[in-house]
Amino acid sequence: MLDIVVCVSGGGTNLQAIIDKIKSKEITNARIKAVISNNYGVKALERAQNAGIDAKVVSPKDYENRDLFNKALLETVKEYEPGLVVLAGFLVNIPEQFVKTFKNRIINIHPSLIPSFCGVGYYGLKVHEAVLARGVKVTGATAHFVDEGTDTGPIILQKAVEVLPDDTPKTLQLRVMQQAEWEILPKAIDLFANGKIKVSDSKVEIG
Ligand code: GAR
Repeated sequence: MLDIVVCVSGGGTNLQAIIDKIKSKEITNARIKAVISNNYGVKALERAQNAGIDAKVVSPKDYENRDLFNKALLETVKEYEPGLVVLAGFLVNIPEQFVKTFKNRIINIHPSLIPSFCGVGYYGLKVHEAVLARGVKVTGATAHFVDEGTDTGPIILQKAVEVLPDDTPKTLQLRVMQQAEWEILPKAIDLFANGKIKVSDSKVEIG
């Protein structure tokens, strides 16, 4: 049984998709041990509590500097001894030591087709604003392993989503979540939990 720690920052709809798909057995061989948020009072924490999952806040506001926050974050996650860490809308720069500790065991969901609209400054609604400003006709989401760069790690799954002429950043964000993120993040977790993912040469092989 794979123990997972899910890190969140806000709404937690991706967390909810994972909770639901563990319950419906679309994700097998895995359980969520804890949910860690960097923000107090967010909906994601409520979702964790409703599902009876241990939830904790590690906020940078409670630490004198970034280094101390980074250490606390790593220590808190390590206490749960997870086999996998999932970043489900976790809008924090993952410290190098964290990446090293969980090499090829951190999965992130990003709301675009990497390598488009990713990297520093591209997160949340900003991604969809940039997509609309550029006028691309297709966008999507990517589930990938986290390495030392920003959105540069090995790609596990991607799914394309159509951009519609009357989209606003919010309508596009919701469609990308519904049609891509809530599907490929749970799928990537299920593949990982069942030993179906192999990383070699910075590329992922499935099966
Ligand atoms: C999601 O769209 C996720 O892909 C994005 O933040 C949102 C969180 O929503 N993550 C990033 O932009 C990471 N670079 P949620 O809290 O409802 O899951």
